[in-house]
Amino acid sequence: MLTIDLTGRKALVTGGSRGIGAGIVRALAQAGARVSFTHTGSARGAEAASALQADLNTGALLVSAHAALAGDEAQMGRVTAEAAGRMGGLDIVVPNVGKNWASPIEEMDVALWQRTIDTNLTASFGAVKVALPWLLEAGRADIVFVGSSAVFDGGGGSVAYPAGKAGLDGMMRGMMRELPRKGIRVNTVHPCVVDTALLRERYDTEEKRAELSAQVPVGRLSPPQDVGALVAFLCSDLGSFICGQSILVDGGRTLWRGR
Ligand SMILES: NC(=O)c1ccc[n+]([C@@H]2O[C@H](COP(=O)([O-])OP(=O)(O)OC[C@H]3O[C@@H](n4cnc5c(N)ncnc54)[C@H](OP(=O)(O)O)[C@@H]3O)[C@@H](O)[C@H]2O)c1
Repeated sequence: MLTIDLTGRKALVTGGSRGIGAGIVRALAQAGARVSFTHTGSARGAEAASALQADLNTGALLVSAHAALAGDEAQMGRVTAEAAGRMGGLDIVVPNVGKNWASPIEEMDVALWQRTIDTNLTASFGAVKVALPWLLEAGRADIVFVGSSAVFDGGGGSVAYPAGKAGLDGMMRGMMRELPRKGIRVNTVHPCVVDTALLRERYDTEEKRAELSAQVPVGRLSPPQDVGALVAFLCSDLGSFICGQSILVDGGRTLWRGR
């Protein structure tokens, strides 16, 4: 039987308490990896983190939660060291935190542009940067960035969001020149219409979400597990010849809408 087996792997996912990040944590843990994840430290994040841990930690403690803001280098440095210490190393990093603030160009000031770029691009660089010593030491490691289908269709409600997410693709290509030869594969997954709190901020009624589903040829929104399954596959032996790729998980929406 063909199985995604991540036994012995040690993963850090940023923004793993809820949404897509939680779907990735779930998939990696179910494939046998030890997983650490971050959240903001808010009451909501802490509650969601505890619930996820309780759900997944049925045997030995494999999943741990850490409060750290993705854009804060010192906090990320501290929790990355904590996570690596607890798991006995680190060989998978998934910088997942990102956010779109919808705003037409006329209303977007440079501060909002910068916040969007910092959250979607700079924080992902920061997550890799602080993890790099452990990834190099592992000898074989994976980085999976979480982009967006907005890179392909300009969506997301502001010009800064696809710009920041497209920056991940550029950064991945740059990393391809340095990291695979050192044992670290890099890929980017681009989710689309995933039914999370972020999506429900923009599509806040059943009607709006039904309209959105109707734009997807497979006929539904995506649960976070769709993205989690792809990340787990990419990090496994089954995905080991996939390197430097930018992969849409969009139910066909991007191509179909562009027809
Ligand atoms: N949803 C979609 O349809 C969609 C489509 C394309 C791309 N994406 C991308 O997929 C990623 C995840 O999106 P999502 O929809 O799952 O978002 P979400 O529902 O807003 O995810 C929230 C998660 O991120 C954490 N988080 C938020 N800001 C953080 C920060 N500054 N530092 C640390 N943790 C932070 C939250 O922690 P707390 O629980 O503590 O708040 C929570 O764990 C993002 O990069 C997004 O741009 C999403």
